[in-house]
Amino acid sequence: MAFTPDFDSHPIEATITSAVPLAGWVEVVWSDGRASRFHHIWLRDNCPCEQCVHPVTREQMFEIISVPADLRPQRVWVDEEGSLAIAWPAVSDVPAHESHIHPGWLRRHAYDDASRQERSLEPVTWDASTMPEPPTFDGRAIMEDDDALYEWLVALRTWGVSVVQNVPCEVDAIADLVARIGIVRETNFGVLWDVRSEPDPISNANTSLALPPHVDLPTREYQPGLQFLHCIVNETEGGENILVDGFRIAERIRAISPADYAILTTVPFQWANRSATSDYRWDAPIIVTNADGSLREVRVGNWLRAPLDVPFGVVEAAYAAYRRLFELTRADDLQLRFRLQPGEVMAFDNRRALHARGAFTDMSGRRFLRGCYSERDELMSRLRMIERERRACREAGAVSATRRQ
Ligand SMILES: [Fe+2]
Repeated sequence: MAFTPDFDSHPIEATITSAVPLAGWVEVVWSDGRASRFHHIWLRDNCPCEQCVHPVTREQMFEIISVPADLRPQRVWVDEEGSLAIAWPAVSDVPAHESHIHPGWLRRHAYDDASRQERSLEPVTWDASTMPEPPTFDGRAIMEDDDALYEWLVALRTWGVSVVQNVPCEVDAIADLVARIGIVRETNFGVLWDVRSEPDPISNANTSLALPPHVDLPTREYQPGLQFLHCIVNETEGGENILVDGFRIAERIRAISPADYAILTTVPFQWANRSATSDYRWDAPIIVTNADGSLREVRVGNWLRAPLDVPFGVVEAAYAAYRRLFELTRADDLQLRFRLQPGEVMAFDNRRALHARGAFTDMSGRRFLRGCYSERDELMSRLRMIERERRACREAGAVSATRRQ
């Protein structure tokens, strides 16, 4: 079977029934009836042969500028293994070439509308009525079982919030949980950090004050993608945990005030920490969208803003939009409220979910949380690796079943 330019398995869920070269592309029809068009230049760019892709690193050596921009196949066929085969003609000093593209790989990378839609992973936004409590998972199962880990990470990717129970009340236990996903992101607060009221606090987080809805480290060029807060002791009165879906707030602003939405997505606000030992600052819009307009991240943290520094004529509109956003962070119907218990970890997308806490009575007992950060990338990589292992098992199972026949 044709070599693939990656380390993944590509079970063949649909075979190629026909492949027809047309003016600018090849039209492939699959056994389930789907038709996918592949541009000639895309097919040449994705030739997986050992001259084009390094057989050990599986990284590309071929460069598209080494062939003419209008290169067209001489012949297209489905080879005896079911791969898409393409003969490329010799053109001036560029020698002829032959590509064999694995049908399972090709189907997974098809870019017709239906295939792209199938691959899209849209987050699902929520409010207090659609999500009365955070999705909850068992930490013991997550530590031992990749299926349980997978289920948790899919929920975190989809909803942006979760609670993991049964995590040992030990100061480093959160590091073991996050190691199941990937690498902890160290910051100027350390690898793991404490959240408790301190006599000489370095942040409002280390007081008993209420904290308004925020993401952590909006002061950084790249805000941590994931945050984990492990409750080890919670014997105080108050200190209620609050989560708000920043994407739902953004959707609501977009619906009720396109003008405010335009300000929040385009005008950079200023962010800065106040610290005796560091001076992190960044300018960025409060809502960041992807190229297609879908939501990528929010940046919210009232006590970490620097004085607004925008053109004179924009100040009033910027404050109006900012006020609208902050009013929505307080909307009862958007706030998910609960009380984290010892042994529970609140895990959330720090570039999407805003977290807050109620004030707590310092005298009434102790409240001690340990926290750390990681990245969305780490989560996505772990999910793909679990999926890759599942595909490899499926393929191995199919091969052994074939041998038994
Ligand atoms: Fe925080």
